[in-house]
Amino acid sequence: MVEAILLVGGKGTRLRPLTVNTPKPMLEVAGVPFLSHQLARAKAAGVDRIVFATAYRPDVFEEYFGDGSAFGLELDYVTETEPMGTGGAIRNVADRLRTAPDEPVLIFNGDILSGVDLVALVEAHRARQADVTLHLTCVAREKLSAFGLVPTDADGWVTAFREKPQRAEDIVTDQINAGCYVFRRSIIDGIPADRPVSVERETFPGLLEAGANLLGVVEQSYWRDLGTPEAFVHGSADLVLGAIESAAIPATTRADLADALVLPGADLDIDVKVGGGSTVGARARIASGAEVTGSVIGEGAHIEAGAVVRDSIVGRGASVGAGTVLDGVVIGDGARVGARNELRGGARVWCDVVLGDGAVRFSADES
Ligand code: GDD
Ligand code: MG
Repeated sequence: MVEAILLVGGKGTRLRPLTVNTPKPMLEVAGVPFLSHQLARAKAAGVDRIVFATAYRPDVFEEYFGDGSAFGLELDYVTETEPMGTGGAIRNVADRLRTAPDEPVLIFNGDILSGVDLVALVEAHRARQADVTLHLTCVAREKLSAFGLVPTDADGWVTAFREKPQRAEDIVTDQINAGCYVFRRSIIDGIPADRPVSVERETFPGLLEAGANLLGVVEQSYWRDLGTPEAFVHGSADLVLGAIESAAIPATTRADLADALVLPGADLDIDVKVGGGSTVGARARIASGAEVTGSVIGEGAHIEAGAVVRDSIVGRGASVGAGTVLDGVVIGDGARVGARNELRGGARVWCDVVLGDGAVRFSADES
């Protein structure tokens, strides 16, 4: 038996307003809640039991995944009364684990789309007799401060842990914590149980100080944290386009639209352009002449005639008026954006808000 813990208690603030109704890991990515992809990968690697560490909107997870039998997994759920942080959340599920003290437990951040070889990670952990093994990946210098930096020595042992460093002198490596760990079970039991703990800011540095063996495994397979709208749409498109495989992607109803995933009941007029890895949700409607590229169109959403939607997320039941242009935008569930608007670069329309025709434009230099 291989057990895993899934950390899914975050509020997903960077994805608001989509996360007002739905916790981040349950937002639909390539047609199914994001976690479906992570669960399918864990199962394929031999994980058979997963404990969800929940805090924010816990009911949504259990309603969808239940006891896990429909997914070939045994699932259990533990909810924090107050968010306990990443380390506190891990400790909080300890009494539900069945793994023996010296055996490995996998732990996943709940927002990572990754092709990492989990079997090889656990094997390295066992072979090197590590206390904790971390999957590390390398990212571009300008992105480093958004992650936990993890320098290692020539043998792969972790030498420091710097979470979200703000000072230039703390940028000591381009290796980051990729949000997937193997813990010796007894290490989990050693985390304080009575207060919030950050695994990144407290547990890892504390273990290093105490002389524990933390192994870093650098693996440059596909990797993306879907915590921002930009990463979210790109991750979804990557799944649809096959840049990363997932057994959880549902079948498309439109074999002729090779670069898109069109879910059952979606209604597309004959002359629409839908591609770039877009997903069109169940019962969504795309009207004549509209163009949808690299975007996620939610269940029952309406894209009116001639609208252009690029790299954007349109929430469930939202509507986008005729001739409107969206580029890098988030439209909340049930919002109604009128005709001939132009929204770009990170704009967000809150759930159920109504924006009139021609209310927002960008082209200031037209005259
Ligand atoms: N149960 C529970 N309780 N879960 C939590 C809590 C909590 O209090 N706080 C955060 N989580 C969960 C989130 O739901 C998410 O799945 C995971 O822990 C990580 O939280 P994020 O908010 O996504 O963290 P991050 O992306 O800024 O940084 C983390 O991931 C990076 C890789 O993407 C850190 O682990 C970094 O070190 C790492 O580089
Ligand atoms: Mg994250």
